[in-house]
Amino acid sequence: MTTTGSRPLAELESFAAGTTDIDPYPRYARLRETSPVVYSDALQAWLVTRWADVTRCFKESASFGPMASGSGSSGIYGRTILHMTGDEHRRKAAIVARRIRNRRELRGALGDRVRVLVEELGSDLPAAPETVDVRAGLTAPLPLTVIAELMTMHEVDVFPRWCHDLAAASVSNVNRDPQVHARGVRARDGIDAWLAPAIERTRAEPGENLLSDLCTVEYEGQRLADAEITSNTAFFLAAGIETTDRALVNLLGGLADDPGQWERLRAEPALVPSAVAEGLRWKAPVQGSVRQALVDVDLGGVPIAAGEKLILLLGAANRDPEVFGDPDTFDVARFADDAGPQFTPVGPMRSFGGGEHTCSGSLLAKLEMEAALTHLLGRYRRIVPAGDRPADAGFMLRSAPALPLQLHP
Ligand code: HEM
Repeated sequence: MTTTGSRPLAELESFAAGTTDIDPYPRYARLRETSPVVYSDALQAWLVTRWADVTRCFKESASFGPMASGSGSSGIYGRTILHMTGDEHRRKAAIVARRIRNRRELRGALGDRVRVLVEELGSDLPAAPETVDVRAGLTAPLPLTVIAELMTMHEVDVFPRWCHDLAAASVSNVNRDPQVHARGVRARDGIDAWLAPAIERTRAEPGENLLSDLCTVEYEGQRLADAEITSNTAFFLAAGIETTDRALVNLLGGLADDPGQWERLRAEPALVPSAVAEGLRWKAPVQGSVRQALVDVDLGGVPIAAGEKLILLLGAANRDPEVFGDPDTFDVARFADDAGPQFTPVGPMRSFGGGEHTCSGSLLAKLEMEAALTHLLGRYRRIVPAGDRPADAGFMLRSAPALPLQLHP
């Protein structure tokens, strides 16, 4: 197994361990140039930084698959659609898609609900000269409420804690921290206990929501087992909330720092979908996806043995100059021609993964992000960074921990 003592790798390792805080992007650039597939002893994983290699790992499902067991893997949820392949994956992913990728839903009830929530949360944000943490007031509660309602868990007090602890204990737990893992397991236990009677209730009286879909759908003539409903529910709570929250923080933070682009968006609202896609590309909220080699395989000239772990660095792939011109620049018009493909496996932006497991929630995230951005653009001439804005933090899930802004009508 080849290792390198190069500085960018050592810097990324201590950053991933939480002992230092650095800007990962220059390190990714160095790795992409010098050692695009490199083994980290500390992370016990191959780090993959080039767009072409990352994309190949997503697409070549016979050679690379999601890691379904062990601490620091998506095994914390149990078996979910992320761990399924072929026909089973296609048909069960379609159950989710019918609710959250369906144009009728997105344009109809779901879209209306998202816009009402944005209006309610947005109207409560105080205008300048007050300073407001837009993360606490808007970007965190919006996706939290949307997923809670889809899973009918909006009245559960500990719901936000469960979601956070689960997301932290999944692939983000790159250091396999036993305490982080234990908190994730406790969250799963809480969800299991809440769901047991809820599944019964929902089967008897289904409603118009995703939990009802999971409880009533039939696959090969049988309803989904309770264990499968529970694991997929746990996965959605982690997959659909902090991701969208952090994506909005990154986008709005970039716009607050660049008033010219805010003005441009106000003048050209048709650029909103492009701005949302570009925010996701420029600062991917999910910086890494985890894969396991299923067979002995060569990646970028490096032999990988079956069973070894790979961390596909989406944040690095999204800034690969082979694919994106001037990749470090945030440009709201980058996808002006057609932003749509970026929210599907077709577009080059890798923030939603790629291949058959491309994010099922990308259109819901797009809907929420566009609604929030449109609301703020309509109300405020300027959004201005206020006070000491905390720096971006986190290796696998990355954004500023808070977004203090002054909103000028
Ligand atoms: C900006 C927000 C989001 C980002 C950046 C994001 C990112 C991702 C990524 C990178 C993957 C691929 C994981 C892998 O292959 O290892 C994924 C898969 C997935 N995401 Fe998202 N996600 C977001 C929002 C959502 C939302 C709102 C939901 C709604 C529940 C969701 C549900 C899922 C599901 C179900 C999968 C698995 C799809 C499959 O295996 O077929 N995501 N997401």
